[in-house]
Amino acid sequence: MIYQVYPRSFADGNGDGTGDIAGIRSRLNHLSALGVDAIWYSPWYPSPMADAGYDVADYRDIDPVFGTLAEAEALIAEAHALGIRTIVDVVPNHCSDVHPWFQAALAGGPDAPERELFWFREGRGPDGDLPPTEWVSSFGGRTWTRTTNPDGTPGDWYLHLFAPQQPDFNWDHPRVRAEFEDILRFWLDRGVDGIRIDSAAMLAKDPTLPEATPDGPNPFVDVDAVHEIYRSWRRIADSYPGERALIGEVWLPDHERFANYLRPDELHAAFNFDFLGCAWEPAELRACVDATLAAHAPVSAPATWVLSNHDVTRHVTRYGRTDTTFSFAAKREGVPTDLELGTRRARAAALLSLSLPGAAYVYQGEELGLWEVEDIPYELRQDPMWERSGRVDPGRDGCRVPLPWTGDTPPFGFSPDGSAGPWLPQPADWKDRTVRAQTGDPHSMLELYRAAIAIRRADPALGDGELIWLPAPAGVLAYRRGDGFRCLVNLSDVAVPLPPHERLLLASGPLDDDLVPPDTAVWLRTTEEPGGPAAPA
Ligand code: NOJ
Repeated sequence: MIYQVYPRSFADGNGDGTGDIAGIRSRLNHLSALGVDAIWYSPWYPSPMADAGYDVADYRDIDPVFGTLAEAEALIAEAHALGIRTIVDVVPNHCSDVHPWFQAALAGGPDAPERELFWFREGRGPDGDLPPTEWVSSFGGRTWTRTTNPDGTPGDWYLHLFAPQQPDFNWDHPRVRAEFEDILRFWLDRGVDGIRIDSAAMLAKDPTLPEATPDGPNPFVDVDAVHEIYRSWRRIADSYPGERALIGEVWLPDHERFANYLRPDELHAAFNFDFLGCAWEPAELRACVDATLAAHAPVSAPATWVLSNHDVTRHVTRYGRTDTTFSFAAKREGVPTDLELGTRRARAAALLSLSLPGAAYVYQGEELGLWEVEDIPYELRQDPMWERSGRVDPGRDGCRVPLPWTGDTPPFGFSPDGSAGPWLPQPADWKDRTVRAQTGDPHSMLELYRAAIAIRRADPALGDGELIWLPAPAGVLAYRRGDGFRCLVNLSDVAVPLPPHERLLLASGPLDDDLVPPDTAVWLRTTEEPGGPAAPA
């Protein structure tokens, strides 16, 4: 199981209200007790934080708000001592506008050689005051910003698929390639076990910069030239001792195009955003699992199972709504949610995702059953999506609220006593969601995750391997892993009988005698003939 730490919101060691490496080191025991195999850290590099650190000014250092490089090295070593591997987040599509290369490109005027490292172009129209294309940014609005020449006149435009403070690199330039190969080595030399690649499908652009049309190929997403980059990265990862994994953030609806990133000489894994956006609906979930496994099989890559991350609505909230899908387009606040229902489903979803073949990802706070905080005061919101959408999209701050650890009132042990308040306010109701409050409570989300992960680690049937669907009543997903492990998830609205079993390993909620209530999952140990036909459920 891979656990995502969002450093600014995990734990604050120095009392400034923002999480840091000192805080992470002081809480590593939580992750060890949870049973995590690896930690992925969202960016911790020096950054003006225009996009919470996904605007990197220096890829080889740590932002002072998070600590120092020496502390990061100590953290990597301490985690290794606990048997936990480290995955760092590399952001190769764009940097920060204060990155020295971009600063040199601006300062040197139109002829600066550094402009070749980015996408600078003249504007269209008689005065060049129209952007080179009408591409739309993932954050809303234009993907081009006009520069001002050193003499004060309006200049060329530069490309940014995200915020204007995040200029896109030109990956056709050998210096960009060499720089990132060196950055990979920098972190691999420091003992990291994996690299999470931000916006992995966006690096290559169609150099003719055509308009994006609904029917034509997208000129800046999944352009074929991107694959050569990952082939060279794979050669670097493979040149290191031990297993060093490359994990791509690849949002693509087309399963075959997605799987291209997982060919044996490219990335090891990519996040499964179909699963993360899938409705709590039996046929859709089953189709998603099948499509995922079918897409990964030909390239022999492990599937990934993700329910939440730092960009999306926490799934306790999502599953409590009438529409249980996630999509950026439909992300709105104030849509009613039933948190009790959402929590029940999230518990069942944990047993589902932790027993599917492949790698499971847990986003910090998911193990505490945290919900999306939807009432953050406007003036405290920091995510650029909020302002850039004209305050229509609530942004992603609601899933980034600092974790509750102990105590009855904010900051719930996130910061040492008497320090500055957390960078985003925590709901008072999180007093029941702290690690301390949940520890030892057999009904808590935390103890459910601990128990499930312990079983997963101990049972070889629960890693990679086959999944066999079993016959089941309408609205119920039932499958076998290995010879003696079964999972049943009841997504119908009636209780269903518990199938024959030798031992009930775990249930996501109370059972009603021998009935599994709606929105409940169970893990069972059964005796079956090795390789023989499965008994009907
Ligand atoms: C994906 C990251 O997960 C997200 O947080 C970020 O805003 C964009 N890439 C741009 O780097």
